[in-house]
Amino acid sequence: MKIGVYSARRDERDFFAHAAEESGAELVMCGPVPELSNYQAARECRALSVITTPIDARLLDAFYSVGVRFISTRTVGYDHIDVEHARRIGMHIGNVSYSPDSVADYALMMILIAVRKLKAIVLRAQGQDFSLGGVRGRELRDLTVGVAGTGRIGTAVVRRLAGFGCRILACDPVPNREAGAWAEYVSFEELLSRSDVITLHMPAAQENEHLIGAAAFQRMKPGVCLVNTARGSLIDTGALIDALEEGKVGAAALDVIENEAGLYYNDLKCVNLKNRELAVLRSFPNTFVTPHTAFYTEHAVRDMVEFSVQSCAAFYTGADNPWLVV
Ligand code: COI
Repeated sequence: MKIGVYSARRDERDFFAHAAEESGAELVMCGPVPELSNYQAARECRALSVITTPIDARLLDAFYSVGVRFISTRTVGYDHIDVEHARRIGMHIGNVSYSPDSVADYALMMILIAVRKLKAIVLRAQGQDFSLGGVRGRELRDLTVGVAGTGRIGTAVVRRLAGFGCRILACDPVPNREAGAWAEYVSFEELLSRSDVITLHMPAAQENEHLIGAAAFQRMKPGVCLVNTARGSLIDTGALIDALEEGKVGAAALDVIENEAGLYYNDLKCVNLKNRELAVLRSFPNTFVTPHTAFYTEHAVRDMVEFSVQSCAAFYTGADNPWLVV
């Protein structure tokens, strides 16, 4: 039972070794990122574990041609894989369901950073400007927080928010019973117009690309805080920059941005980045940007690796696979 592994980071290695021992699988380290120049490394593996690199139709065909029949991404989201093409050619795809608390804790931190204007406070204090002008924050108990998307992560966010005494609004096509105990479910439009803070927790799909665009910003309260720990494609970045410049958005805390593929998780300190929107967003004192690290805890990394290996092993043995996507 050979499982090909791409993009294994140093901090994942012990978890891989443990997962291999538990499942009896032999792991084949196939390369830094899966691409057309190294797909041959997977030739003896029917199952692969990958992470965030885009896997398009050509790469899927290449893997199929060397016998790969299952690809498990060590992520919850699988928008980086051309799942429709996989379905067409008979390639199976799986994701993993790691600790939602990793992202939920981080989302709470981002909400607090936004409402307490932490970026401006820290930047100014570094220049020994200890004055108070412009950095007065707000208390969560006085605010209405809108949670858009109440799957496992959104529900964990609602659970945490309940302890802060704020009003909680939620929207989701499939309401969650636990979230409903603390949050009032409303339409997406109502959530936009009533919330002081909006936090996004939905997967990326074609239908929700630029869900938060000019029309959505129009509906929002002046000074709204926007938090995104989900996917960059949910927000029209140009429209967000306009809304920040106009003061319509009072603060943004973004762990994800559009077109981040190839940027994050790499050391690019000597490179001129081809993402002007990132540069503009980072220049704003009320916009806090992190490099898609909400997931990055010991607990979540262990889950990601172990569940991905278990999923590949289940593909070999025919055992039930709770992570199968197609
Ligand atoms: C996911 O699991 O979907 C994530 O967003 C984390 C990943 C990009 C490492």
